[in-house]
Amino acid sequence: MNIQDSVAFLTGANRGIGKAYVEALVQAGARRIYAAARSLDSLNDVVAIAPDRIVAIALDVTQPEQVQAAAAPDVNLLINNAGVLGAGGLFTDRSVETAQWEMTTNYFGTLAMIRAFAPILKQNGGGAIVNMLSIASVVNVPVFSSYSASKAALYSLTQGARAELAQQGTLVVGVFPGPVDTAMAEAVPLDKAAPIEVAKTVLEAIAQGVEEVYPDPVSQNVFVNLKTPLKEAEKQFAGMLPQ
Ligand SMILES: NC(=O)c1ccc[n+]([C@@H]2O[C@H](COP(=O)([O-])OP(=O)(O)OC[C@H]3O[C@@H](n4cnc5c(N)ncnc54)[C@H](OP(=O)(O)O)[C@@H]3O)[C@@H](O)[C@H]2O)c1
Repeated sequence: MNIQDSVAFLTGANRGIGKAYVEALVQAGARRIYAAARSLDSLNDVVAIAPDRIVAIALDVTQPEQVQAAAAPDVNLLINNAGVLGAGGLFTDRSVETAQWEMTTNYFGTLAMIRAFAPILKQNGGGAIVNMLSIASVVNVPVFSSYSASKAALYSLTQGARAELAQQGTLVVGVFPGPVDTAMAEAVPLDKAAPIEVAKTVLEAIAQGVEEVYPDPVSQNVFVNLKTPLKEAEKQFAGMLPQ
């Protein structure tokens, strides 16, 4: 689909990769960008990028009534970017609550968004959905075990949504970044991709109809490994745990 003249709806738009998506969408000529975040105040800098084209929306993706209310009827590109990552592994006092929070946001929040916007995308000719997955969707990164599980669930959801929405002509794109230079990856001791490079690569992929995007060298390396021995990548990430 063409990004030029598209109408995009983006979650988690106030910072990190989300803010970079707004910049990339503006540069690529999107006609309107609904930039959603939990706090409207946190979007002031984002709206200032192009006040004539950016509409601030208050949206917590874990609140079904807010998701329904946000479903703007002119959208043809939905970017599910909002996500959370908790710390602490699987065996702390708070591990179950952390895992539920990650699953509620990363998996069920995205599912609610897809369900609310799918009929709108159909009405507008098919359009596209982008889900922000991770290399952790395909191989568990044990320093973020429960996050990895939520992103694995989201990968499976992405494949299912792709199949179910194919007949209405909706392109469903999964993005599998390695570490990206945002608050979420602050503690990751690896080279990190620039958020704007990730956002631009994804928009180019949408324009070309590509379903799976590996937007940085770490991602590309993991996927090369996956094509050969999956175990190598699993051991590599297990080695990041403190000894
Ligand atoms: N950074 C990486 O290394 C990396 C790698 C692979 C995949 N990803 C994925 O890329 C996406 C963006 O990550 P990022 O690095 O930009 O993270 P970030 O800087 O931590 O930003 C996360 C965004 O999600 C929003 N968010 C969290 N919970 C929400 C909720 N319940 N409802 C609505 N918005 C919510 C946050 O809003 P608030 O400001 O309100 O908290 C924020 O805008 C995530 O899905 C992440 O899992 C990131």
